[in-house]
Amino acid sequence: MKIFTVAKGSSGFDGLKRGERDKPTPGAGQVLVRMRAASLNFRDLAIVSGKYMRGPVTHDTIPLSDGAGEVVAVGAGVRSLKVGDRVVATFTQGRPPEALGSPLDGVLCEFAALHEDGLLKIPAHMSFEEAATLPCAGVTAWNALMHGKTLRAGETVLTLGTGGVSILVLQLAKIAGARVIITSSHDEKLDRARKLGADHGINYKQHPDWEKKVLELTDGLGADHVVDLGGVGTLPHSYQCVGFGGEVCVIGVMTRPEGDLSPYPLMIKGATLRGIFVGGREHFEGLMRAVAVNKLKPVIDRTFPFDQTVEAFQYLKSAQHFGKVVIAI
Ligand SMILES: NC(=O)c1ccc[n+]([C@@H]2O[C@H](COP(=O)([O-])OP(=O)(O)OC[C@H]3O[C@@H](n4cnc5c(N)ncnc54)[C@H](OP(=O)(O)O)[C@@H]3O)[C@@H](O)[C@H]2O)c1
Repeated sequence: MKIFTVAKGSSGFDGLKRGERDKPTPGAGQVLVRMRAASLNFRDLAIVSGKYMRGPVTHDTIPLSDGAGEVVAVGAGVRSLKVGDRVVATFTQGRPPEALGSPLDGVLCEFAALHEDGLLKIPAHMSFEEAATLPCAGVTAWNALMHGKTLRAGETVLTLGTGGVSILVLQLAKIAGARVIITSSHDEKLDRARKLGADHGINYKQHPDWEKKVLELTDGLGADHVVDLGGVGTLPHSYQCVGFGGEVCVIGVMTRPEGDLSPYPLMIKGATLRGIFVGGREHFEGLMRAVAVNKLKPVIDRTFPFDQTVEAFQYLKSAQHFGKVVIAI
């Protein structure tokens, strides 16, 4: 079968290699999935460049955690799935941090043998490409909104940027009845976000003190939920514009340390700082129910053919995208 690998010790796109491996055989409790689509996350850029939290990959590894496909064979003892089921893989297979794409082999391959517990059925209204956007970005967005301080209709959500996680936060927050403020470095992307239902957009390049804009837009009250996808450079701003009793979810790792990272602004507002590492199967099941009932269609910016995997990674790195970047397999 055809695969891509991230070569052992990879520190750049040169480490992405097209190759062949034997088609796997499903073991007990496993099914064989003919992968049809995979999506890219910021994490995958970090893995290829050797900058992921675990350091460079220690063996040639099939990249990408987020994939969807069709069950073509079942191993002994499998009860929940059958040949022909359309499935999407969970980010972690077993206990965190045992995630697909690092340290486990990922989904950028024609066939993957995965345990039935690490797969969910795809709602009927979704394509393989759409389902492949959910395991990391969708589950992270769902975890940020619906766990910890649970989102209630009428509350204000602030989400940073217009990448994969942020646009899913916007879509999920709107079906939950929230007011959404979104930031971007591009006005055109803010216009697209408004068309998707965003109530307010702030250009964070034009307004480096965007937290003041958030306070203006909320009559000084601040946001109930801040989905901080920037990291240590944006957290000091998030601390200033989260509201009383609100929650800042620390998720992103895209920025360098900047400003005062002291959590005291949270203390005086009784606000919470919650770290998020994607989410487990139970989060994904909750997300899938919401997606199915609301017939939610994740936003796919662009789909690349398998042979243009390197171009897909380069495109994600260029940050031109709005929503998700997908590879058809
Ligand atoms: N902790 C976890 O479990 C977890 C899970 C998923 C993702 N993440 C992290 O969340 C972040 C986003 O992931 P992703 O996959 O959605 O990335 P992505 O699709 O590559 O999105 C990147 C976008 O982030 C925006 N951005 C960049 N710098 C920014 C800044 N200083 N302030 C505000 N926005 C900024 C840009 O949006 P504009 O072009 O609109 O400016 C950029 O296009 C990454 O750091 C990723 O590692 C963490």
